[in-house]
Amino acid sequence: MAEINAQRDIRCLIADLGYPADWNWAWDNYKPTIIALTREYGLKRHLEIGGGRDPLFMPDEVEALGFDVTLNDISAKELALAPSGYAKVQCDIAAADAPEILGKERYDLVYCRMVMEHVSDVARMWRNIHAVLAPGGMALSFFPTLYAPPFALNRMIPENLSRPLLEFIDPDRVPDGDNPKFPAYYDHCFSDEAKLTPMLRTAGFSDITILPFWGYSYFWKFPILKQVDAAFTRLAQARDWRAVSSFAYVIVRK
Ligand SMILES: C[S@@+](CC[C@H](N)C(=O)[O-])C[C@H]1O[C@@H](n2cnc3c(N)ncnc32)[C@H](O)[C@@H]1O
Repeated sequence: MAEINAQRDIRCLIADLGYPADWNWAWDNYKPTIIALTREYGLKRHLEIGGGRDPLFMPDEVEALGFDVTLNDISAKELALAPSGYAKVQCDIAAADAPEILGKERYDLVYCRMVMEHVSDVARMWRNIHAVLAPGGMALSFFPTLYAPPFALNRMIPENLSRPLLEFIDPDRVPDGDNPKFPAYYDHCFSDEAKLTPMLRTAGFSDITILPFWGYSYFWKFPILKQVDAAFTRLAQARDWRAVSSFAYVIVRK
C-alpha cells in the first residue's frame, strides 16, 4: 500500500466534497468519494463487492486513474454481464471462506453500493472485509436504511408482492431489465451509530464514520402521498431522525 502522508480526517474530506445529508448528494458523490479516498490515502488496490453488471469504474477509467479493481459478485451471471478487463471473483461476501477466495490483506479499498441490504449476515460481511483489507485499508458501503417507508415496506411485504409493485413504480426493475430486483434482508441497514458501531468494532474497525441521508423518488408517481412524504422527509432530515433516514455511507479504516 502506498505510504500515507499528512491527510485530512475523513469527515473533513467529506465536508470538502460539500456533504449535505441529502440523497441526491449521496448518489452523485459516491464515485467522487471513492476517488477522493483513493487519492487522499494512497489506496491503489480496490475490491468492488457486488459490482455486478454495472461496475463503478469502467476499465479505461481504472487505467486513467491509476489503480487496480477486482470485481466481486455472488452471481456468475452478473459478473459475466460486466465488461472484461477486470479480475473477477465470484463469491458470497458473507461466506466463511470469502477471505481465502478473495485474498487476505490483498486490498487497500473495498466498496459496495446497494449491496449490503442483500447480504443476509452483515456482521460476517464486515469481518470478511476486515480480513481482506491491508493494514490502514479502508472500506465504504452505501446502502438503503430502515425505516424509510419504501425500504421498510420492501422488508415487510413478501417478495412475490413487492416485486410487481416495484416493477410498476420502476419498469427497469423487471428480472431481465437493466436493473433487476435482488432479494433484500436489510440486516444492520441503519444510519444510527448505536446500532452499527458495536458490530463494526467487533469486526475489528476502530475508525468509523457513518453519514446519514434522507430522501428518495419512490413515491413520486403518487400525488398527495408524494407531497406528504416529502414534507416528512424534510422534517426528519432537519431533526436528524436517524430511525427514518433513507440511505447511509459507512466509511471505516482498518
Ligand atoms: C442492487 S445490485 C447493485 C449493483 C451495483 N453495485 C450497483 O450499484 O449498480 C446488488 C448486487 O449485489 C450482488 N450481491 C448480492 N448479495 C451478494 C453477496 N452476498 N455477495 C456479493 N454480491 C452480492 C448481486 O448479485 C447484485 O449484483
